[in-house]
Amino acid sequence: MSAEHIILTGFMGTGKSTVGALLAARMGCPFVDLDGWIETAAGKSVRAIFAASGESGFRALEAQALQAVLAASTRRVVATGGGTCLDAGNAELARKRGWVFCLTAAPDQLAERLAGAGDRPLLDHGPQLTLVDHIASLLRERHSAYAASGIAVSTGGRTPQEVAAAIAAFVGQAPFRLRQGTRAYSVYVDAAGGLEQLGPRLRQAWEQGDGSLQESHPLPPSARVLLVADRRPWKHHGEVLQSSLQQAGLRPDLLLLTGGERAKTRPALARVQDFLLANGVERSTPVIAFGGGAIGDLVGFAAATALRGVPVVQVPTTLLAQVDASVGGKVAINHRRGKNLLGTFHPPALVVADQSVLRSLPPREMRSGLGEVVKMALLGAPGLLARLENSRLPLGNDLLRRAILSAIGLKAEVVRIDPEERDLRRILNLGHTVAHAIERAASYARWAHGEAVATGLVAALRIGVRMGITPRGLDARVEACLAALGLPVAAPGADPGELEAGILHDKKKRDGRVSWVLLRGVGDPLVTADIRTEILREVLSSLVVPPCGAKEERA
Ligand SMILES: NC(=O)c1ccc[n+]([C@@H]2O[C@H](COP(=O)([O-])OP(=O)(O)OC[C@H]3O[C@@H](n4cnc5c(N)ncnc54)[C@H](O)[C@@H]3O)[C@@H](O)[C@H]2O)c1
Repeated sequence: MSAEHIILTGFMGTGKSTVGALLAARMGCPFVDLDGWIETAAGKSVRAIFAASGESGFRALEAQALQAVLAASTRRVVATGGGTCLDAGNAELARKRGWVFCLTAAPDQLAERLAGAGDRPLLDHGPQLTLVDHIASLLRERHSAYAASGIAVSTGGRTPQEVAAAIAAFVGQAPFRLRQGTRAYSVYVDAAGGLEQLGPRLRQAWEQGDGSLQESHPLPPSARVLLVADRRPWKHHGEVLQSSLQQAGLRPDLLLLTGGERAKTRPALARVQDFLLANGVERSTPVIAFGGGAIGDLVGFAAATALRGVPVVQVPTTLLAQVDASVGGKVAINHRRGKNLLGTFHPPALVVADQSVLRSLPPREMRSGLGEVVKMALLGAPGLLARLENSRLPLGNDLLRRAILSAIGLKAEVVRIDPEERDLRRILNLGHTVAHAIERAASYARWAHGEAVATGLVAALRIGVRMGITPRGLDARVEACLAALGLPVAAPGADPGELEAGILHDKKKRDGRVSWVLLRGVGDPLVTADIRTEILREVLSSLVVPPCGAKEERA
C-alpha cells in the first residue's frame, strides 16, 4: 500500500509552508512545497509561468506536479498553493492519497501577516476596499471549496509549532493536547497498548497539573486511585488496567457498576459519590471512569461535585465514548423529564482511548458509535466520509483508527474555540434535535444513541435540502452510507406528532426557539432557528414511513 501523505491547503498567509516544514521535521519525512517543486520543474518562477502561459497553463502544471508528488511510496508532507485544492479533481486526489488539512485564519490575522507581500497579484485591491475586506471577500468565495477539501485546523492564537503538533495528533503521531479555559489535558489514541500505559500517563498528567488540578501534583508512591468501572468491559480488560496502575506504584480501589443508560440516575450518582467520600477522596486523588459514555458521564459528574471538583480520568470503552463522550468535559445524569438534564462541564485530566478495548464491544454498540463518526465526518472530515462511503462492516483497523483520530481531533478543534457551547460547539449537535426526540418517544429504551443520531442526520439533511441550504443528493448519499454501515435511517412506527412535540421540548432551545444544525455542504455547518413548520412535518412524516423494500423483507 502507498504512503498516507499529509497535504496542507488553505488561503495564502495561513502558514502552510512554515507549518509543513516543522511537521515534516517532527515526523522525520520529506517536505515538499508544491510551488517550489513547480518552479524547479519548469525552470522559472510562478510569476513567470503566469506571464508566459496564463493561469490555465499554471494550473495544468500544478495538477501534474501534485500527481507526481503524491505518487511517492513513502510519506511526504506537502504544502500546496492557495488555489490547488479549489480544483475538485486535485482535492479528490489529495484526499485519496492521504490526510488533507486546510489551515484557517481570520481575515484580520491574514491581512496582518500578508501586509507588504507585494508579490501576490491576488492581493491587489482597489482603493474602495481595505486589505481585510478584500481578503474577507476572497475567503467567502472560496469558503465551500476549502471546507470540502479537508479537515480545518485553525492557526489563530497558535504558534506554527502548536499547529504542527495539532496535525501530528490528527495523524496519530502525538497525543492531542486540549485547552479548555484554564484547564489543559492530553488525549491519547492508541491502536493497542493504551491500557498498559495508563499508570505512567496518569503520573505524568498529575506532574503537569492537568485538568482541574491546574498545578503540578506529583503523586507519591502508593498513591490511592479511585476506579469506577462498567462491569462488562472490566470483565475483558480489567486485569490489564489494574496491573498497569499497580506497576506504576498506584493503589486502585474499585467500584463496579452496571453500565448503560440506567447508570445515569440519581441513586447511581449517590453511589459513586459515597464511594469517593468513603475512600477518602482528596482534591488531587485520581478518579478513573472506565466504561462507555454512560459511566463516563456519571463518574465525571460525581467527580465534578465531590469536594467541588476532583480530577477525573476518562478511559472510554465504547466507540461512541472514544469519539465523542470522553472528550470535552460535558458530564451529566438523566432526569425523568429528559436526558442529561442534570450536569455540568468538568474537563478531564487525561483521556486514554485504546482501540483494542473495542474488540469486546457488541456489534450494535459499534454501529452506534459509527453514527457519531459519520456526524463528525459530515461536520469536517471529507476524506473520512469518502472512505466510510466505500466501506462495509466490520471496518478495518486502519479506517477505525482514522475515524477515532478525526472525530477526536475535530471535537478538540471546536472545544478549543468554544469550551462551554456558547456558539461554535453547537454544531456538534448536528442530527441531535431529531435524535433526542426519537429517543424520548421510545422512552430511552429502544434506540442506542448513535442509532438515533443516524436517523437524525437523515432528517437534518432532508430539511436542509428542502430549504435549499443543503446540496441536492447529499441526503441520499449519506443515507446510503449510514444504511451500509448497518444504521437505521428511518423511525418506522413512530408518531410524527410525538416527535414534533419532543423537538419543541429540546433542551438546546434558545429564547424559546429550537436551534437546528444544517449543512451547506460537507464541512460547512450552519446553526439556525428558522425552520418552516411544514418542512419539519414533511420530513418527520417521511421518517416514520418504512423505507422502500422494508415490507418485502418482512413478508
Ligand atoms: N458527555 C458527552 O459529551 C456525551 C457525548 C455523547 C454521548 N454521551 C452519552 O453517552 C451515553 C452513551 O454512551 P455509550 O454509547 O458509550 O453507551 P453505554 O455507556 O451505555 O454502553 C453501552 C453498552 O456497552 C457495554 N460496554 C461498554 N464498553 C464495552 C466493551 N468494551 N466491551 C463490552 N461491552 C461494553 C456497556 O456495559 C453497555 O451495556 C449516553 O448517555 C449519552 O448521553 C455523552
